[in-house]
Amino acid sequence: MLITIPDVLTPEQVAQARQILDAADWIDGKVTAGYQSSKTKDNMQLPEGSPAARELGDMILAALSKNPLFLAAALPLRIFPPLFNRYAGGQSFGTHVDNAIRQIPGTPVRIRTDLSATLFFAGPEEYEGGELCVEDTYGVKKVKLPPGHMVLYPATSLHHVTPVTRGARVCSFFWLQSMIRDNGQRSLLFDLDLAIQRLGRDLAGNAVGETTSVQLTGVYHNLLRQWAEM
Ligand code: NI
Repeated sequence: MLITIPDVLTPEQVAQARQILDAADWIDGKVTAGYQSSKTKDNMQLPEGSPAARELGDMILAALSKNPLFLAAALPLRIFPPLFNRYAGGQSFGTHVDNAIRQIPGTPVRIRTDLSATLFFAGPEEYEGGELCVEDTYGVKKVKLPPGHMVLYPATSLHHVTPVTRGARVCSFFWLQSMIRDNGQRSLLFDLDLAIQRLGRDLAGNAVGETTSVQLTGVYHNLLRQWAEM
């Protein structure tokens, strides 16, 4: 399941973030790479825990906590503090899989990375290349989104970023542990949630429709109760 979450940040928030990101000091991105991915990773990152990373990370987490589509699709339990990367001058990240477990820096908390997220700060017209390519069972999906939009995809998937041959690609990336570990179960719950919302809209004021909607909402919550890990 690969899901685009549009307008996570407003244009004003993106503009504010861009000012901070454009003025920031970037370091070699290999600092957060595992052994295997460090061999194919060629980009720059903001230092983890730097004031700029914290300020912008908090902005993203606050926006996500109020985003119904994100909450329904991810059913998040713990979110890793957002990291920031920049690709320019031919930089790329070869095919890799993200580490399964990550410790939140400065804490004993570890998260299982069920979902990976990439939030775009640069417009697609600002750079050439830089597609996020995610391999799934239906083939390779190429993702390049407008600023402020985010993609969520299973952290289990192989993925890569194609070389940025003009301009700069600036993104935030992070992982989250979902209350629902299994991608298939999470997809089912998301589909059911969307269907219930549609039913609510289409049958508003219809007594039979409302009873059905309550029943299906019960099924949703009872599945969530059976499957959720906290
Ligand atoms: Ni990755």
